[in-house]
Amino acid sequence: MSIVIRGAAKRYVSRGREIRALDPVDLDIKAGEFIAFVGPSGCGKSTLLNMVAGILPMTGGTISHDGKPVSGINRAVGYMTQVDSVLPWHTVFDNVELPLKFRGVPVAERRRRVTEMLALVNLTGFENSFPIELSGGMRKRVALAQVLVYDPTTLLMDEPFGALDAQLKLMMQAQLLSIWQATGKTVVFVTHDLAEAVTLANRVVVFSGRPGRIKVIETVPLSYPRDPFKVRFNPQFETAYGTLWAALAPEIAKGEAI
Ligand SMILES: Nc1ncnc2c1ncn2[C@@H]1O[C@H](COP(=O)(O)OP(=O)(O)OP(=O)(O)O)[C@@H](O)[C@H]1O
Ligand SMILES: [Mg+2]
Repeated sequence: MSIVIRGAAKRYVSRGREIRALDPVDLDIKAGEFIAFVGPSGCGKSTLLNMVAGILPMTGGTISHDGKPVSGINRAVGYMTQVDSVLPWHTVFDNVELPLKFRGVPVAERRRRVTEMLALVNLTGFENSFPIELSGGMRKRVALAQVLVYDPTTLLMDEPFGALDAQLKLMMQAQLLSIWQATGKTVVFVTHDLAEAVTLANRVVVFSGRPGRIKVIETVPLSYPRDPFKVRFNPQFETAYGTLWAALAPEIAKGEAI
């Protein structure tokens, strides 16, 4: 098992007021699985990823990753946070190299791995560009290379393609699926876009509105490889989308009423 979540919960205390961000959650994520989280804004999706990454203490429960309890920063995950960590004053090459520098990887090995990662995300030739010179999709691919470069077993991705236009999003989805299939990593993918979740994931978890809880977990009955440009025309896609939307829509409506 890649990630075992038992009773993981989070309460925030903010200005003397307690916010139940996440009620106790139980979830098992298999090694090599592609799982998606959907749910209304504020239901605790990023909170749960932060707890798996070990950067946010839990107020209850336990999480283990690759058989080890998460306590403190979990360096075995690659985390693409909701706000990416591409630094504007570094070139593409330097940005991707940074995580290896932090880990004390020797310079020759760093060069080899950065070059390999830039090829994997189709950025060969842009080594010396600065982030401001890149398109939105290219910048996302730099962020993806940054987390893949140190070869984590698990990728946590928080709305990585949220800001991209529809066509670019489909291209990034296709690229992510092919990287996932080539590397066999576990992927936990948060999105607001239900079609994106059904396109990519083997299982989709629907969270209820705050306090977040798991409402439904559905297995998507589509085999891999999947072509994001075509899969949505498959009748099974529509069935899975319909079931998930029936669970998700009332939660979104509740949020709007607050
Ligand atoms: N540092 C904090 N202090 C107080 N409350 C917080 C803090 N971080 C998050 N929250 C609250 O916890 C709840 C869950 O937040 P979280 O960011 O996990 O939601 P989310 O599901 O990722 O939402 P979105 O889809 O908008 O990204 C929210 O109601 C938020 O206001
Ligand atoms: Mg979030």
